[in-house]
Amino acid sequence: MRQERLVPLREYARRTGIPETTLRLYVREGRLHAVRLGRYWYIPVEGEGAREGLGRVFTLFTHAGGAGKTSLARDLGFELASRGYRVLLIDADPQANLTAWLGLDPSEVLDGETLLSVVEGRGLPGPKEAPLEGVRLDLIPANMNLAMAEVVIPTKTLGMVLLRTALMESGVLEAYDFILIDSPPSLGPIAGMAALAGEGLVVPVETSAKGVQALKAVLEVSRDYQKTLRSLRFLPADAPPFVRLLVPTKFDPRTLQDKRARALLEEIAEMATVSPALGYRPAPYKEAIDRGLPVQVVGDERLREEYRALGDAFLRMVGVDEGKPEEVS
Ligand SMILES: Nc1ncnc2c1ncn2[C@@H]1O[C@H](COP(=O)(O)OP(=O)(O)O)[C@@H](O)[C@H]1O
Ligand SMILES: [Mg+2]
Repeated sequence: MRQERLVPLREYARRTGIPETTLRLYVREGRLHAVRLGRYWYIPVEGEGAREGLGRVFTLFTHAGGAGKTSLARDLGFELASRGYRVLLIDADPQANLTAWLGLDPSEVLDGETLLSVVEGRGLPGPKEAPLEGVRLDLIPANMNLAMAEVVIPTKTLGMVLLRTALMESGVLEAYDFILIDSPPSLGPIAGMAALAGEGLVVPVETSAKGVQALKAVLEVSRDYQKTLRSLRFLPADAPPFVRLLVPTKFDPRTLQDKRARALLEEIAEMATVSPALGYRPAPYKEAIDRGLPVQVVGDERLREEYRALGDAFLRMVGVDEGKPEEVS
């Protein structure tokens, strides 16, 4: 039997180059077969060779600045992409560090290429390819003007789920295995919209008293986010806790204080899964930023081993078997 797959109309338009309005006209005139599910139209496409993406969306989240959200988006994204998963990174921070750190110049990014497009009702912009050698990593970039979203989101009905619905509508869930969203260091509207776009939060926790303090607030707001998603029927009642993975960062095993922080982390391990820690290594992280590369590319073997362990922990958390995803012919 031939496999049929439903491609969202917008994605079909992107692929074929036929404008969406023209496609809608064809559908109305009966010249193009389309299926309506909920609010959206889909085009049944026969015998597509491509494997369906896993479509798993997670948000790097904590209002603590400098905890390692952006580094984690870049380096976990790279780790998963290196294993053959199709990865999309979304820069939801007007500071646009993720964009810059992946070798793109935020000052050359147009507003319509950022999440501002989503917030203003124009849908998800097409991703760009990060200029990396050998590994495909896609990115929806940011620029400074994304800060305007902070004032626009609260004026929209269901503004907080705009990114979630845009992801559903755009076809990226079918095109990618993992979508990682880097959020700004706040609990404001953009951070909320980023958090509500996924199935859960991945929270970097700086291994210090300050980091653990921030985590308590994150756990509290995450319960509100989960409640909101449940009430809108975006999450089942039996979904796991919204904070899905804690990643201890900047861990320096030599200091007593950090050992105490680790002990604290172990205490809260019942509330969320804790991954292996990422060590404190200022030199390679600085070099990574300077060269616009993931830290594994500039770092040593021990650092790469840290990220392999983190990748394993992440995949265990999502319930995906380790190793490459199976290709369906
Ligand atoms: N494990 C680490 N060791 C040393 N420096 C780190 C580490 N992780 C991140 N950094 C550095 O700390 C700073 C803050 O990290 P960043 O990823 O920007 O955090 P956030 O996005 O949460 O603000 C950056 O300069 C980054 O290069
Ligand atoms: Mg950041």
